Amino acid sequence: MSVRRLAEDSVQPASFAFNPENSVWAEATIKKYPEGREQSAVIPLLMRAQEQDGWVTKAAIEMIADMLGMAYIRVLEVATFYTQFQLQPVGTRAHIQVCGTTPCMLRGAEDLISVCKSKIHHDAHHLNEDGTLSWEEVECLGACVNAPMVAIFKDTYEDLTATQLEHIIDRFKAGKGSDINPGPQVDRTFSAPAGGPTSLTEEIPPAPKSEALTGVSTAAEPAQPAHTPPSNAAKPDTNAPETDPKLKTPADGKSAEPDAATKVAKPSLDDPNRPAGVEKPEKPDDLQLISGIGPKIEATLHSIGIFTYEQVAAWGPAEREWVDGYLNFKGRIERDDWARQAKALADGGEEEYIRVFGKKPR
Ligand code: FES
Repeated sequence: MSVRRLAEDSVQPASFAFNPENSVWAEATIKKYPEGREQSAVIPLLMRAQEQDGWVTKAAIEMIADMLGMAYIRVLEVATFYTQFQLQPVGTRAHIQVCGTTPCMLRGAEDLISVCKSKIHHDAHHLNEDGTLSWEEVECLGACVNAPMVAIFKDTYEDLTATQLEHIIDRFKAGKGSDINPGPQVDRTFSAPAGGPTSLTEEIPPAPKSEALTGVSTAAEPAQPAHTPPSNAAKPDTNAPETDPKLKTPADGKSAEPDAATKVAKPSLDDPNRPAGVEKPEKPDDLQLISGIGPKIEATLHSIGIFTYEQVAAWGPAEREWVDGYLNFKGRIERDDWARQAKALADGGEEEYIRVFGKKPR
């Protein structure tokens, strides 16, 4: 990269002043910073001066230094450090900054520079014949993945070939630079692989449905029921419905227990459809005689105050639905006809059950 110096005195204007609109803007910009820190506005003010006149003049540097209470040399240091600031007149339609740092150089920056030399001027920082174009070589502009590249004012043009740059220069010279989309000039998005993605291309499986969509409850153990079970009652694992041997499929041995995705939300213990519980009687009925009730389910029923066949037989449809949901049984209470089983057992024990169902319970 060439040394950055101010332009020859012969092209420097005698003075600089922000136009009225930019003056208002500059004052407002300076006020953004605390008293004594006004010099923080040096870069925005230099950039606004360049946008107004096309380049940063010596007079502009001195005026901005005066506005900010800075030594001229300090503002000159800033203006000469950053290649965003043009220190001499540039093309009115395009100033092409060709990145000449290693990645771009390895990928063909020299060819791009040759194009600039042939289409604009042999030497950098010189205008073409009609003053519309100029060029220079700069250091890395931060688009190395898409090397080689050029910057034209505030846009970058990447993944260039010499032919593409010729076309771009022609469009800008004709005043139709907006025809060219900035960014990569090959089939890629930003710095993604050319030609499209090369990894993570598999179809992404759908994410597990949330509780909101499936109704799967992630809540911990339900709140203490209204009926407090005796302290010696086994704590049921209501999140793990009991496996009934009848629900196993002999062919695969898998339990018919519903999987997590098909579980429904456990109904509230405060739900009015919850069956009324009772204190544990001295001799509770053997609920396990009802098909579908094993030790764990029986313990769960005990935890909500259900101990007798009469209680189960007296449940109405809404209460059976509540218990079915509480046990996550997916309709099994109705399928197993607990109501009829419980009524038979309540009316006459195992004999009545055999009479009604033609078989012993369980
Ligand atoms: S090396 Fe050219 S953009 Fe970084």
